[in-house]
Amino acid sequence: MKIIQDLQNLDGKKVLLRLDLNVPLKDRIIKDETRINKILPILNFLLDKKAKVIIISHVGRPNGKVNPELSMKPICKNLETKLNKKINFLTEDIRKIKDNDLFKNLDQNILILENIRFYPEEEDNNIDFAKHLASFGDVYINDAFSCSHRDHASVVNITKFLPSYAGLQLNSEIKALQKVTTDIKKPITCIIGGSKISSKIGIIENLIPKFDNIIFVGAMANNILNFKKISIGKSMYEKNCDAIIAKIFELSNRKLCSITYPEDVVIGKELGGKPIIKDLVDVSETDMILDIGPKTIKKIDSLINSSKTILWNGPAGYFENPDFANGSYEIAKSIVRKFKSNSIYSVAGGGDTIAVINKINAINDFNFVSTAGGAFLEYLEGKALPGISALK
Ligand code: 3PG
Repeated sequence: MKIIQDLQNLDGKKVLLRLDLNVPLKDRIIKDETRINKILPILNFLLDKKAKVIIISHVGRPNGKVNPELSMKPICKNLETKLNKKINFLTEDIRKIKDNDLFKNLDQNILILENIRFYPEEEDNNIDFAKHLASFGDVYINDAFSCSHRDHASVVNITKFLPSYAGLQLNSEIKALQKVTTDIKKPITCIIGGSKISSKIGIIENLIPKFDNIIFVGAMANNILNFKKISIGKSMYEKNCDAIIAKIFELSNRKLCSITYPEDVVIGKELGGKPIIKDLVDVSETDMILDIGPKTIKKIDSLINSSKTILWNGPAGYFENPDFANGSYEIAKSIVRKFKSNSIYSVAGGGDTIAVINKINAINDFNFVSTAGGAFLEYLEGKALPGISALK
């Protein structure tokens, strides 16, 4: 994969830059700016090199139709403030724009196209649309790792028409993920939460042969407890997944990967109920398991302490209620302690995991925090991402 730093001269070059500015919007107000902050380095890099930048991004899922609620306008405004620079926001139909309509004003060096998913051709990976987009620039950069699992025109087919490079953020995302999948420093531990075990089975199967420990927490662990015939009361779990779990145990035995799941829990009678610590044998029919207990926290802390690499995806409980957030916070704090003593490589990802980390203000205390959702998970499953393959 060629990376943008390989390109010596960008002076005056028109660069088509695919970003993932898919931030949460409510009433056209940005609710979380993390993804915008993460792409500032590539914009500053290109502007310093005197390139002319054409930003392409989507926001939301407008399904090929114009939807004013999903306009790039608020994102453009936010970027203007962050860069302290005027950005030309192009609202015209992209299909009618011609190469020499752009950058007519010679002082202007950055523009942003309206939501690329307003055009059905984008998600169809339409070759003519990709060719037309490519005609706007001299070079293409993908700095949208989190969109690279999508077979879309501005991610895949566009690379057929222009010299194409990986951007700074995409490159660091891949490097971080390689450190937890191929260039591993052992022992390596994965902490996996969330609810549907069937949605993560591909990842678990791909990681077991490489990992020393897999720790199940959150509702994911309820499936294991239920499989082990331990009462989980009225806790959330997924039906019909015994075959999957049997396979996980069989594979982990064969590949010498140790599986850890809670020894004790925090229950509530309802989501807003009083938190009570219980040993597994004491969980009753009317209890809901909503967090891991202190013995489990201690065990996880000791596994983290003996690891050199950690991958964390999915909180340990119902962290949205502070009464059940302790387990998730303690996991984050154990990783941060190791990070601060320079003795671990830590990667975290997934929307809820990032929310937990943000709540304790620790986003800079992990080696890498991935803002990618689907792409992060597919990469961990070992799947080839079309947007990355296209750069090779
Ligand atoms: C994401 O939020 O994961 C990316 O922007 C991709 O969005 P999508 O799932 O709508 O393709």
